[in-house]
Amino acid sequence: MHQGLSHIPPADQCGTLDWRDDGVPVSTRFDDPYFSRNDGLAETRHVFLAGNGLPARLRDGFHIAELGFGTGLNLLATLLAWQASGQPGTLRYTSFEAYPLAAPDIARALAHFPKAEAVAAPFLAQWGAGQTLLALDGIEAEIILGDARETLPTWQGRADAWYLDGFSPAKNPELWSDTLLAEVARHTAPGGSFATYTAAGHVRRALQSAGFAVQRIPGHGAKRHMSVGVRSA
Ligand SMILES: C[S@@+](CC[C@H](N)C(=O)[O-])C[C@H]1O[C@@H](n2cnc3c(N)ncnc32)[C@H](O)[C@@H]1O
Repeated sequence: MHQGLSHIPPADQCGTLDWRDDGVPVSTRFDDPYFSRNDGLAETRHVFLAGNGLPARLRDGFHIAELGFGTGLNLLATLLAWQASGQPGTLRYTSFEAYPLAAPDIARALAHFPKAEAVAAPFLAQWGAGQTLLALDGIEAEIILGDARETLPTWQGRADAWYLDGFSPAKNPELWSDTLLAEVARHTAPGGSFATYTAAGHVRRALQSAGFAVQRIPGHGAKRHMSVGVRSA
């Protein structure tokens, strides 16, 4: 799929969901939830933002990349943090997604996060119209559709910070392979970082040997550990 020409498929070809009683969407393909049952927004802030030293490192032109776009919650949490920083300029956000969700499903998932929902309208309108290039108030985002194992190696960009947000390594091993994590490192700017909720040993070792100085730090909520790392400058 050509990056600039990708288009959200019709709803019947999108990723499919089950809904738990607590409102959390669960992927039928991977049998795993899209975000934490407790408070997905707080988890995003802890794991992906703070884990990457954000919002402190944010500045005009800062580029965030993500494996696994899902509901866009991480994008919206980043948008909220950027708007709250009061800085001028525009962030770049590139996310890789193989099984895009239909806009009404995303809207239903985001309804549980009033702060994210409050800034979601432009995203939902553009996504619902099939756009994968999103112009938001402070962020220019590109969602690259297709299997990240195929799309990331040919990506021309380099991120200042990575959100590694596949489903759990046990259920979605293809997003945590040594080969793909080496591609993450290759597409990271010198001094750039990654953060992920998992502390799986093979993931940390792969990121370490790909060139990151990796640390295991306290996770969010019930999760004891997560992983962060910085690529040498
Ligand atoms: C935990 S969810 C991401 C949650 C998301 N960051 C959010 O804010 O809602 C994991 C995502 O990875 C996607 N995914 C799984 N395997 C993939 C692959 N090989 N390439 C690209 N995306 C993949 C899934 O479709 C799913 O949307």
